[in-house]
Amino acid sequence: MVFLLSEAIDKGGCDFAADGAAGIPLGAICDLLGVPESDRAHVLGLTSSTLGSHDADGTAADAWIAKSEILLYFANLARDRRDSGHADVIALLAGSRVNGFPLDDDEIMLNCYSLFLGGDETARLSMIGAALALAHHPDQWRALKRGETGIDTAVEEILRWTTPTLHSGRTATTDTEIAGHPIRTGDIVTVWNASANFDERVFDAPERLRLDRTPNKHCTFAYGPHFCLGAYLARAEIEAVLEGLRDRVADMEQTGPSRPVYSNFLNGLCALPLALKPA
Ligand code: HEM
Repeated sequence: MVFLLSEAIDKGGCDFAADGAAGIPLGAICDLLGVPESDRAHVLGLTSSTLGSHDADGTAADAWIAKSEILLYFANLARDRRDSGHADVIALLAGSRVNGFPLDDDEIMLNCYSLFLGGDETARLSMIGAALALAHHPDQWRALKRGETGIDTAVEEILRWTTPTLHSGRTATTDTEIAGHPIRTGDIVTVWNASANFDERVFDAPERLRLDRTPNKHCTFAYGPHFCLGAYLARAEIEAVLEGLRDRVADMEQTGPSRPVYSNFLNGLCALPLALKPA
């Protein structure tokens, strides 16, 4: 992050989405999975076409092709890691046993796929949203810079404010009722995390960005058995971005129009031109 920010500051600014945030979560997840440097640009292109497209031209078929290519990529990598003495997460999955049985190639491939899709674009959108939020809330930016706001609470408020995953769906396994609405077995129920994070019954003035907000029981990482596996990694990544901006940038300003990702599942920007003044 320090390197990316230094480069951007030297140039006087950057597209924070493409030149700043794009490489950070992808780099972290690729390091964890041991994806070679030479494959990373290709894999980044695939993930962008899978969940949230950068433009409206991408078709559903493009997304399915990209998903299949990612699966194929990890199937090959998993096969390679079975006995090659690597020390990454794929090698760990390849060598582990569940109830005494080793994971088969499909299980390894699907675990990698979840980690990859779960961990790249979501965290990226939060970081880009963090830069946008700070550029547009000078009081909060100053409080962060002066140390009046701690990084820990700032990370949580950025997660609430940006909510990169708009919703999650589940299929009801039994007849039930939610807030007076009958739900039948087989119905699909959708939780709108983005709405829950701005619930005025839970958050005081939810429409205000307050980097020192406590408590902050946001639903950005969902809740329950499928609570985000990468929540702590995502928090560490956002923390690094906030610290980098706080310590290295004196001022930042949006210099052109931002562009939202084209998705009804992910929320955030794929372009954010920013001028950055060195601290
Ligand atoms: C700001 C960043 C992130 C956001 C907003 C986010 C959001 C979420 C949400 C909402 C879920 C629950 C989905 C559901 O209930 O259907 C989830 C699950 C998951 N996330 Fe994340 N995530 C982030 C970062 C990461 C990272 C960095 C990784 C990987 C290292 C990751 C890997 C996963 C995995 C594997 C699951 C599935 C867990 C399970 O089903 O038990 N996520 N994430």
